[in-house]
Amino acid sequence: MRRLLALCIGLSLCGAALALDLSPQEQAGQRLYREGLASADGQVLARVGVNDMSVPGSVLPCASCHGRDGQGRAEGGVRPPSLDWQRLSGGQGQRQANGRSYPGYTDASLARAVQQGLDPAGNRLDPAMPRFDMSLADQRNLTAYLKRLAEDRDPGIEPQVLRLGTLLPASGPLAEAGRVVRAVLEDGLAQLNQQGGIHGRHLQLVVLDPGADADSAGQALRRLLDEEGVFALLAPLAPMLDTRLAAELERRGVPLIGSAPRGGGSPQIFDPMPGLVEQLLSVATHAREGLGVTADGLRVVYAGADQAALAEAVQQRLQRAGWSLPPVQAFSGQVVDGQGIVFLGRPQAFVDLSQRLSAAGQSPYLFAASGQVAGALPQLAQAWSQRLFLAYPVVPGDWTERGRVELAGVQQRQGLDARHAALQVNTLCALRLLGEALKQVGRDASRERLVSALEGLHDVETGLTPALSFGPGRRQGMAGAHVVAVALPGPRFAEVAPYRPLPDSP
Ligand code: HEC
Repeated sequence: MRRLLALCIGLSLCGAALALDLSPQEQAGQRLYREGLASADGQVLARVGVNDMSVPGSVLPCASCHGRDGQGRAEGGVRPPSLDWQRLSGGQGQRQANGRSYPGYTDASLARAVQQGLDPAGNRLDPAMPRFDMSLADQRNLTAYLKRLAEDRDPGIEPQVLRLGTLLPASGPLAEAGRVVRAVLEDGLAQLNQQGGIHGRHLQLVVLDPGADADSAGQALRRLLDEEGVFALLAPLAPMLDTRLAAELERRGVPLIGSAPRGGGSPQIFDPMPGLVEQLLSVATHAREGLGVTADGLRVVYAGADQAALAEAVQQRLQRAGWSLPPVQAFSGQVVDGQGIVFLGRPQAFVDLSQRLSAAGQSPYLFAASGQVAGALPQLAQAWSQRLFLAYPVVPGDWTERGRVELAGVQQRQGLDARHAALQVNTLCALRLLGEALKQVGRDASRERLVSALEGLHDVETGLTPALSFGPGRRQGMAGAHVVAVALPGPRFAEVAPYRPLPDSP
């Protein structure tokens, strides 16, 4: 067995083979622990608070407070202690938690803690810990599982190795971008490993090709998680997965550091860059403060059904920021009125809109995100010079001397040029966030701990972007963008408003 294990690690083939082997009883206990579900025809009820209000166990599974890893999470009030069985039961003498002192737990006193809220010394547990009603069989399952909980580690963590995964297309329109991201990731991980890795573990990267469509990408994602057993995802390029990516990560509790296909919004996805909504809010702020567009003077226009939800989200945030606007419009060749137009969609539709407006003799200000419409600039008529304002998450003015040297170093070592600088910066930021968070997590790593460490990152200086900050409910490192005016022909760019975090972002 030892030898097989060593072989597995050496070849990094057998991620799933290393998963914990649980008996049927322990598996039932795991389900109860994680999801609050009873075994066949049983029922689990949680009695909550000083009044013993009853709710189904699935509303308050143990893992929701103690964590899937049993380490407990500090979330205001009393901290749930570690449920490591070694700590609860092992050895002689007293142990302490939250000011209580008590001898070691036995199966019987554990059941009493879970059902009646008393520790082995008879101290009453804080009422933040519910009292659970469950059958004898369910309690046995739960106890059996709690004894294995400490071994039930997340995939991808081995004594010497921490395995990460990503999805990068090897062919098709994203192949070049995939090659760039891969080079930057491999370079960054090699640098970290040269310094000894993180907390004694080398970082290993598994790269799979998501293929061309959502089905092949879904398969690749499942292979990454089930067969390769990766701990977390880093900077994948798989827009075809769309909302399926976030759903799958949430279901399995897998963190991702990188840009999400749809502006994020998932608790598992930490994006160094601002979402489209925040970017467009920054340009709208400039419309009002820099260009004097009146509170009813903007129109939100989108092209393509896939942009509709984003357009609505932009509209809502604008209304909240004090704009009073008519409903969003889907662009299908019509003339749009207004002093300024906030556009969401692809480059060709943006060109069509500009031509339609010109033909009708109108020249409103146009506002958009560089990431969406930069490809349209060569086709825009000169009349739009200085009428067009774009959001850029990052401009070269953000780069410090150290940042420049770091970027130049990667480019030189990996034979990359400056064409994909934005993608390179993005990827370097993802690596930076991963490194920072893993260092804080310590040797006893779990996916949950990584998520809370990421959430705790504030004012991370990357040397290549404005400082990045996250928080509970905040999953984008930047809450806004620089605003850049475009002069034509050229195009030539001039920053007209610097990045500043939007006041109303979460
Ligand atoms: C709503 C949050 C919450 C849920 C759900 C919850 N606990 Fe707790 N648990 C706590 C808190 C808070 C404490 C600390 C109480 C104290 O120290 O007075 C605690 C304490 C404990 C203790 C005592 C540990 C010690 O060191 O004395 C055990 C054992 C325990 N919980 C097991 C469980 C199990 C098993 C479940 C699921 C059946 C569960 N808890 C569900 C919040 C929770």
